[in-house]
Amino acid sequence: MKRRVKRLRAGDTAEFAACAALECELFPDEPWSAQSFADTAAAETGYLLCTFAEDRLIGYFAGTCAAGSGEILRVATDPAFRRQGIAADLIWYYLAEMKPVEVFLEVRASNADAISLYRHYGFKEVGVRKRFYHDPTEDAIVMKRGE
Ligand SMILES: CC(C)(COP(=O)(O)OP(=O)(O)OC[C@H]1O[C@@H](n2cnc3c(N)ncnc32)[C@H](O)[C@@H]1OP(=O)(O)O)[C@@H](O)C(=O)NCCC(=O)NCCS
Repeated sequence: MKRRVKRLRAGDTAEFAACAALECELFPDEPWSAQSFADTAAAETGYLLCTFAEDRLIGYFAGTCAAGSGEILRVATDPAFRRQGIAADLIWYYLAEMKPVEVFLEVRASNADAISLYRHYGFKEVGVRKRFYHDPTEDAIVMKRGE
């Protein structure tokens, strides 16, 4: 199926709603709202991407980059489209376009799929935030790529 990646900008309201719908499915504990996506797209340091297969939104990426320091806030792929390189492509776009010198992220300690994805991109575990997540309560692994 043909895929395309789009950088979202302020005003892409249909895409913000589609990202939020996928969020509710994938992060039911603390889903981002359409407004959260809109705020990221509108922020000077924000970076928001989505992937479409035909007209269906099947993946998205939210991050920031300021003065060379980046943070990955959200990466997700529709369960029906996993292991096809969608998340990897989105991270690649972010690294290629924003060129962060260093990038940080937090991930649930039990989220083996995501930890594997980040390791694939050279992220290393640099710390733990105890009981960072709720419903269920869980530690966050802090990962870093770069200097
Ligand atoms: C984690 C997630 C974003 C991966 O998306 P994806 O599009 O399937 O990932 P990709 O196909 O781009 O995978 C790239 C690489 O990451 C690693 N990887 C991804 N999913 C993996 C899995 N389930 N098991 C092991 N390795 C995995 C592999 O190294 C993979 O390369 P390979 O397929 O050539 O072996 C997806 O599983 C997801 O949406 N999970 C729920 C949301 C989430 O937890 N997001 C992260 C929050 S911090």
